[in-house]
Amino acid sequence: MANQTYIRGLIEQESRSTDPLLDWWHPVGWSADFGEQPTQVVLLGRALAVWRDADGAARCFRDLCVHRGTALSLGKVSDGKLACAYHGWTYDGRGKCLAIPQLAADAPVPASARALVFACEERYGLVWVCLGTPRAPIPDFPEWDAPGFRHAACPPYAWQCAAPRMVENFTDFGHLGWLHDGLLGSRDDLEVPDHAVQTEDGTLRYSLTMRVPAAEGINDLSGPNGLMTNDYVLSLPHAIHLRSRYHDTGRSRVLFFAVRPDSATVSTGFCYQSRDFDLDGDDRRYVEFQETLAEQDRVVVESQRPEELPLDLADELHLKFDRVAVAYRKALSAYGLLT
Ligand code: FES
Ligand code: CO
Repeated sequence: MANQTYIRGLIEQESRSTDPLLDWWHPVGWSADFGEQPTQVVLLGRALAVWRDADGAARCFRDLCVHRGTALSLGKVSDGKLACAYHGWTYDGRGKCLAIPQLAADAPVPASARALVFACEERYGLVWVCLGTPRAPIPDFPEWDAPGFRHAACPPYAWQCAAPRMVENFTDFGHLGWLHDGLLGSRDDLEVPDHAVQTEDGTLRYSLTMRVPAAEGINDLSGPNGLMTNDYVLSLPHAIHLRSRYHDTGRSRVLFFAVRPDSATVSTGFCYQSRDFDLDGDDRRYVEFQETLAEQDRVVVESQRPEELPLDLADELHLKFDRVAVAYRKALSAYGLLT
């Protein structure tokens, strides 16, 4: 009885929850990491079981069997149906329980025997889940299907921080030449060029032309001028598409970055390094470059307090080159995503 109350309570809590992040798409992992058998992932503090049905379509359930609260991710999939590890109750992809082995063969399966199912889509080699009603589509990554681009997936970044902190770091210009001196800029040239931010329909758009050092490795395309124009699209709540064009060579790099908020203080970032050159080349140098940057960033971001971005702009000191940070706080707040 107590168990039923607990499970019902959890399910009611899902339907009543006021967490506005439930109503957005979030990446939960690389498609390639989800096979037929269920895998547990944690999103917004909730344990989920992701598995594949007979058509190979990704399915996402609350990782909880309504019978005795067992994690469905311990179960086994066969013939496109997920059988709970404990007593074998068997669910189809829509969460309907088709079979309860302990019942007599002709006894009906109660309608309340259901798994809690969430919207689940695959896009750009990632599985995306929405725990509520989506307020916006999955963010755009137009180069994904475009010919002439090669995409290198970086190992996921598991950071002890709130997702907006991770997102903001990705688009913070002021730190590039300072923290990443010699890699993404130089301490001799830190002035942030003027830029405007357009906020519309849950996206922030801004462009910035800057000089990058013609360093060994990734920026050897920057040429003698070293100028690069960066076009950003930040999609609420936690995704960034950045297209960088080197003026001297006309070549482009694209970074697609989407963050899974595991909880209020743990986040996982999924990042593609894409390029329209060196199409047969080794991805490792691009991925390793990104890893070097990410490790420099991680230490800083994990130290930031408060853990959440402050809602009150007066709680921080913003200068004019922090325009994106201010626009991001305002946009999050307009959707109730900053409290
Ligand atoms: Fe899942 Fe009993 S707990 S079938
Ligand atoms: Co950085």
